[in-house]
Amino acid sequence: MTPRVVVSQYVFPEAVDQLRRAGFDVEARNDDEPLPPEQLQELVRGAAGLVSMLTDRIDADFLASAPDLSVVANVAVGYDNIDVAAATRAGIAVCNTPDVLTDATADLTWSLILATARRVPEGDAFLRAGRYTHWKLAQEQLGADVFGQSLGIYGFGKIGQAVARRAVGGFDMTVRYHDAHRLPRDRERELGVTYAEMDELLATADFLSVHAPLTESTRHGIDATALARMKPSAILVNTARGPIVDEAALVEALATGSIAGAGLDVYEDEPTVHPGLVEQRERVVLLPHLGSATASTRRRMAAIAVGNVIDALSGRRPRTLVNTDVRPAVGATSDET
Ligand code: GLV
Ligand code: GLV
Repeated sequence: MTPRVVVSQYVFPEAVDQLRRAGFDVEARNDDEPLPPEQLQELVRGAAGLVSMLTDRIDADFLASAPDLSVVANVAVGYDNIDVAAATRAGIAVCNTPDVLTDATADLTWSLILATARRVPEGDAFLRAGRYTHWKLAQEQLGADVFGQSLGIYGFGKIGQAVARRAVGGFDMTVRYHDAHRLPRDRERELGVTYAEMDELLATADFLSVHAPLTESTRHGIDATALARMKPSAILVNTARGPIVDEAALVEALATGSIAGAGLDVYEDEPTVHPGLVEQRERVVLLPHLGSATASTRRRMAAIAVGNVIDALSGRRPRTLVNTDVRPAVGATSDET
């Protein structure tokens, strides 16, 4: 029987074609709204492969309802929407799309740093409201310097490092980072960054940018206590995962002036955004999870996800396998090379 592959939400048509050309029986939704869990379970029943999105909850219940599944390929670098341990126990390969979105996400982080510091959306709204009639009025929009300031990076994987390279090379910033894993010293020197404990990172940052994965140890890593340690002039930027920041505490910190601003691309309960953030217009810039959203990056992500499904269902080891300890339950023989 031809293996069935489900694509849970819209991806580029050429990616779907690639699956069809590989000979699978492909069922691709064209919609970019996630299905409710029961409907997704229904759709995936009997399928051997799934191309999934961050907005699909691939939890233990879901996996238990899909006994024929042998690969889940998430079109994202993050995979906190997937119960990886449960997948591993079930012999299901979990794959992500690292690397290809590193620079796009770092660029978007910089858009937020600059837009928040220089109050770009406020200036745009000011002009469109017909208020740009005299230079002096624009003095209402004084921003903060970026060049030469101090950048703190919380979570120093590929994206955090790409943000650091832009900061050091382009903006002459002092960059400190904090991560559960400290880099080798020569790598730090090469990047021009220094390691800091969390307290120091918080206290010294003019800009604090979050690039950690969401795990039980990073959830609310930026909470009320952390925000209280930051400079009143500091700007918090988050393009990683919403739940790393305690959103209610952030709203409070912005309202009371305990920090100066925030540039956010991710939220605790997407696509819901805390009303206290939406109300706050000064020095708060809010984007709808656009980190990797460039046409070429999204195309590459879709191609990688599809390639992973094809590899897994052809008995090859997927190139960007997350659970490298998975023992394939059916068909696939793992090929360590
Ligand atoms: C986006 O948030 C991703 O994880 O790719
Ligand atoms: C992404 O690839 C990261 O590790 O930050």
